[in-house]
Amino acid sequence: MKGIVFTEYLSFAEKLVGEDAVEDVIEACDLPSGGAYTTVGTYDHGEIVKLTEAFAEHTSTEPEELVRLFGVYLGEVFQKKFGQFFEEAPTLFDFLASVHTHIHVEVQKLYPDAELPSIEMLERREHEAVLRYRSPRKMDALALGLIQATASHFGENVDVSREHGRDDRSEFVDFHLRRSG
Ligand code: HEM
Repeated sequence: MKGIVFTEYLSFAEKLVGEDAVEDVIEACDLPSGGAYTTVGTYDHGEIVKLTEAFAEHTSTEPEELVRLFGVYLGEVFQKKFGQFFEEAPTLFDFLASVHTHIHVEVQKLYPDAELPSIEMLERREHEAVLRYRSPRKMDALALGLIQATASHFGENVDVSREHGRDDRSEFVDFHLRRSG
């Protein structure tokens, strides 16, 4: 997983629990990288899982909820760092449809070793859409937070529900999106 995810994760954690507590948690996790991440580096996905378990315990929050909150935070960071992608899309559904066909493609060019999920727009109507997420890293809680932050950016209210499934390719999570305003 790319260093940018880890550096933003630690900024998010610092906002949540403060710098000193973050230092303590990193030390207690005994990570292969020692928690010294650079944005261009690549690190084991297992480190974010370990950090999440430790922060979840520290804050008495469910790991899943912590990852969703990080997704909201990361979505806001992406809006600042990659504003062009947001300007190119007129609506939330246009943006979400472009993640797989355009945005993550450009991200892969920028970071050739990035490990990106598959985010397929399966169905799309005026007020409803289904987005299918597949990834061996199973970070659908991150995807949920990213979708919620993006909906806010577009000023759209959406109800999001998740449905787990599997086919002959892999397990997946379908996000059912319903626009309410
Ligand atoms: C401007 C918008 C976006 C940019 C620049 C972006 C970029 C990235 C980058 C750099 C990574 C890390 C890859 C790695 O660590 O190897 C990533 C991972 C990921 N992205 Fe995006 N992304 C964007 C929007 C979205 C949206 C809207 C979603 C959800 C619908 C999404 C879902 C994910 C997930 C869940 C991961 C974690 C890896 C995994 O699940 O396998 N991204 N993205």
